Amino acid sequence: TTPSLLILPGDGIGPEVMAEVRKIIDWMGAKRGLDFDVSEDLVGGAAYDKHGTPLHDDTMAKAQEVDAVLLGAVGGPKYDVLDFSVKPERGLLRLRKEMDLYANLRPAQCFDALSDFSSLKQEVVAGLDIMIIRELTSGVYFGEPRGIHKEGNERVGINTQRYTESEIARVARSAFEMARKRGNKVCSMEKANVMESGILWRDVVQEIHDAEYPDVELSHMYADAGAMQLTRWPKQFDVIVTDNLFGDLLSDLAAMLTGSLGMLPSASLGAPMANGRPKALYEPVHGSAPDIAGQGKANPIACILSFAMALRYSFDLGDEATRVERAVEQVLADGLRTADLMGPEGGVPVSTSGMGDAIVAALDAS
Ligand code: NAI
Ligand code: MG
Repeated sequence: TTPSLLILPGDGIGPEVMAEVRKIIDWMGAKRGLDFDVSEDLVGGAAYDKHGTPLHDDTMAKAQEVDAVLLGAVGGPKYDVLDFSVKPERGLLRLRKEMDLYANLRPAQCFDALSDFSSLKQEVVAGLDIMIIRELTSGVYFGEPRGIHKEGNERVGINTQRYTESEIARVARSAFEMARKRGNKVCSMEKANVMESGILWRDVVQEIHDAEYPDVELSHMYADAGAMQLTRWPKQFDVIVTDNLFGDLLSDLAAMLTGSLGMLPSASLGAPMANGRPKALYEPVHGSAPDIAGQGKANPIACILSFAMALRYSFDLGDEATRVERAVEQVLADGLRTADLMGPEGGVPVSTSGMGDAIVAALDAS
C-alpha cells in the first residue's frame, strides 16, 4: 500500500521550508516511482486563524491514521497575546500527547562541508552520524509528588524521578529497532550508581535486549561519563537511549557537535500501529523564525532531513533517505549557503527555494 504522509506546514518559515520538501517528494514520484499519499492541513496559528483552535479535531484524527506526520513549525508574535489554551504550541503538544510519542529522536550528523561550524576539532566530528533517543513522556518532568512546599521556615522544591518497567521497555525497543536500521549498536545512559530509577533502567534495557534483541550490541554508561565521551570521541556511538532529563541535556549537546539550527531534524515515535510502523511525527528542531519569515532566507535543510528520517524510519526506505542526505552533502560541498550557514569562509548565497532546487538537481545527478 502507498505510504501516507500528513503535512502540517504551520506558521512563519514552516510553509516556506515545507514547499522545498514538496519538491523532493515530487522528485521521488517522478524519478524514483515512489508515490506517497500526501495530505496537507493546518496547525498552530494558521489553524487558529481558520478554526479558532491550534489543532482541529479532524486534523488530530487524520494524524492518528497516517504512517507519518511531517510538521514545519508553529508560533509567532501575532499569537503571543492569545490565551494559553489556544496558543499555537498547544497544537503541537496535543499531537505529541494524543499520539503518545514517547521516543524523541535527535540525530547528530556531520556534513563535512560544515565542519568549520563545529566547536570541536575536524577529526572528532568528520563523518559523525549518531542518534540520541530521549524518553519524552515520563521521568522527573512528570513524576509525583512535585511542587514547592513549606517545611518549617523554608520552602522546598520537589520533583520525583519515576519510571515504570513498561515505560523503560518501550523506549528501549524503539532504540533497538532503530539500531537495526543503522549501525546495530545501542548505548544506554543513566545514573545507576546514585539513582534507583537508574538501576531499574539499566536492568530493563538489558532484559529487553537479551530477550528480544540479542543481535544488537548493547553497552551501558553513566550519563555524566556519557557527556564526556560525547565531546571526547562521539564517533564511538551509534544509538544512545536515555531518560527524559539526561536526554534533554545530551541531545542538545550532541546536536551542537555538528550544527546550525537550520540543519537539525528530529522525530518523535510512539507505539507500533497495526501495520507494524510506529506512530511518528517528524519536524525540524527550529521554530517559526518570525525574524526571517517571508524573506526567502530560511534554510530548508532541517525540514528536508526530517523527511529523510521519515523515509528511513517510517517507510523503510533507508536507501532513499541516504540519497537525500547525499544530495544535501553535495550542495554543501559545492559551497551553497543559506544566510544561516554563511561562515567566515563564505560561499555561494542561495535563497530557500534556491537551496531546494539545488538539492533536487543534486538528486537528479545522483
Ligand atoms: P526559532 O528556532 O524560530 O529561531 C531562532 C533563531 O534561529 C532565529 O534567529 C531564526 O531566524 C533562526 N533560524 C531558525 N530556523 C532557521 C532556519 N531554518 N533557517 C535559518 N535560520 C533559522 O526560535 P525562536 O525565535 O525562539 O521562536 C520563534 C517562534 O517559534 C516562537 O513563537 C516559538 O514559540 C516558536 N517555536 C516553535 C517550535 C516548534 O514549532 N517546534 C520550536 C521552537 C520555537
Ligand atoms: Mg532542551
